[in-house]
Amino acid sequence: MQGTVQVSGAKNAALPLLFATLLAPGTHRLSNVPALRDIDTAGKLLTILGGRVERDGDIFTINSDDIRSDEAPYDLVRTMRASVLVLGPLLARVGHARVSLPGGCAIGARPIDLHLKGLEALGAVITLDHGYVEARADRLRGARICFDFPTVGGTENLMMAAVLAEGTTVLENAAREPEIVDLANALVSMGAKISGAGTANVTIEGVSSLHSMQYRVMPDRIEAGTYMVAAAMTGGDIRIIDARLAHMEAFVGKLREAGVEVTEEGETVRVRRVGPIRSINIKTQPHPGFPTDMQAQFMALMTRGDGTSVISETVFENRFMHVCELQRLGADIVINGHVATVKSVAGLCGAPVMATDLRASASLIIAALAAENTTEISRIYHLDRGYEKLEEKLKSLGAMIDRQPD
Ligand code: UD1
Repeated sequence: MQGTVQVSGAKNAALPLLFATLLAPGTHRLSNVPALRDIDTAGKLLTILGGRVERDGDIFTINSDDIRSDEAPYDLVRTMRASVLVLGPLLARVGHARVSLPGGCAIGARPIDLHLKGLEALGAVITLDHGYVEARADRLRGARICFDFPTVGGTENLMMAAVLAEGTTVLENAAREPEIVDLANALVSMGAKISGAGTANVTIEGVSSLHSMQYRVMPDRIEAGTYMVAAAMTGGDIRIIDARLAHMEAFVGKLREAGVEVTEEGETVRVRRVGPIRSINIKTQPHPGFPTDMQAQFMALMTRGDGTSVISETVFENRFMHVCELQRLGADIVINGHVATVKSVAGLCGAPVMATDLRASASLIIAALAAENTTEISRIYHLDRGYEKLEEKLKSLGAMIDRQPD
């Protein structure tokens, strides 16, 4: 693969930012919003709640003067778990919210108990009724909340709830992902008082009202990482625009250890592999550790390493569904609990495979790029949840990839 590719705005930053517009009346303007199915779902949800949503390319204009409903229905929450992020803003703005429980999900149980415990600590009364979470509070009150696990969505939900609470909230053992910092910056631009975002302790001093924002969504570090692994897998030499290495240090460190050159050249990041791929071990962890959202793609790369690689998944309990499909392409992988052992094989061979979730789809594409013959990947709708124009971008780098109609 050769050439230059542009990274889109980050899905995982854009989603909470869209829901943050519920917090204040007025017209909000978000730019660099990627064209993705999850973003469409978020737009639908905002409209149901009373937001007036307009879209022009990557720019979303949302008027939140009139929040009419407080209910996030099952058919939307079912397709996108991040819909639970309306709980915090709705509680803070209108004092009640009714949100369908997201239920089970392909990559593990993924409960929302930590979100609910935190909201209760802020004074919300929460009941579960017919598969819905009902939350009520006259005015939330600041509190000290210590998360059992640094949950990304939980930290975002609580931050959005606490900005309009009375008094000060301290979130301990908070998630430190760059998307949390992006949300905090946007909230501060609306008049919120937040310090410590990006560290394990976030302090939020409640204010009585907020105003609308104009904000540009940060670039997608997982999309950038996916192109990096694709270039590494194919022995390519590519340049990526809008890859922020500061957001991806653990991942880039591992890529370099695997024999891949990653260098900043002006406004771009150059990724090149000339030597063999070295087999190395990885363990997923909350940020700043190796991101779970890059585990599947990295595993695809390790199938072509020079020995044995041990991959431990510590964030989600069931995130190895891509393994069976990689095996269909000839990979030698054995799973034992949350650890996968990947032994290098001489080559992968194209076969029909099925995408099972968003990042698993990306790993199958990466494997297919290096496999002999043709690979046919079905259920690629998973990809459209999180990668903007993936096949077009890969094609522009020289990949032979086509989308067939269903
Ligand atoms: C977010 C990302 C997702 C990424 C994940 C971990 C978005 C829209 N999605 O998901 O792409 O893979 O972070 O980096 O930003 N947990 C509980 N109880 C809770 C909440 C979480 O037990 O109340 C557990 C989960 O089951 C999981 C772990 O904590 O095992 C991490 O989940 P969390 O950080 O909350 O991930 P999400 O916010 O869902």
